[in-house]
Amino acid sequence: MKLINAKDYNDMSRKAANILSAQVIIKPRSVLGLATGSTPIGTYKQLIEWYNKGDIDFSETSSVNLDEYVGLQPDNNQSYRYFMNTNFFDHININKNSTHVPNGVAEDVLREAKRYDELISTLGGIDLQLLGLGPNGHIGFNEPGGAFENSTHCVSLTEETITANKRFFANIDEVPRKAITMGMKGIMQAKKILLIVSGKAKQDILTRALYGPITPEVPASLLQIHNDLTVITAFDK
Ligand code: F6R
Repeated sequence: MKLINAKDYNDMSRKAANILSAQVIIKPRSVLGLATGSTPIGTYKQLIEWYNKGDIDFSETSSVNLDEYVGLQPDNNQSYRYFMNTNFFDHININKNSTHVPNGVAEDVLREAKRYDELISTLGGIDLQLLGLGPNGHIGFNEPGGAFENSTHCVSLTEETITANKRFFANIDEVPRKAITMGMKGIMQAKKILLIVSGKAKQDILTRALYGPITPEVPASLLQIHNDLTVITAFDK
């Protein structure tokens, strides 16, 4: 594991963007695993800036996102597809058809989960997976207590996650209760993993994840046994 302590959120975002951009420059046909949430917004902004300067070309790159809420249409402004389009894809030259987010309105969620795993293997697997860390140690929507061997699946969100995510919705009742998420198994199959964590509030859970016992109670603890994990932190606030 490589652990980089950044000075602040902007520094963390720049360092993460550097790693993602190096990946795309070295392998233009990379498959990037992407995350939503507040943590990666600065990383996406930085990548957009470098794209606008002509430093990165995403035309051959594909992406697969970690998760999507069940029941939200892609054009719902709380869906993760909408988040990715507005925070990243709309501003770079990635082919939208090469960007993938689980379909939260699939009639058959089980079949959708299977399709998503097959898609990832057809693409040749994920070259670099960007991750954020949930306040309870979740990764994607792999909540505490879930099985490590899960591939893409449907989950019921914990009260803690619903509460943490309510800041993005008009009120807590609007937060979807279910999501489709890549499982820990799929995440661990990524060739490289880049975990970004910001804010003092996440310092303890990150310590448990990186140095505590490897346990489904802290899903991110499984990352300890990945053989190419980079963690960038910003704990100034
Ligand atoms: C989002 C995701 C989640 C977030 C985590 C942290 O696609 O998979 O696991 O990474 O909840 O969210 P923020 O960055 O908002 O603190």
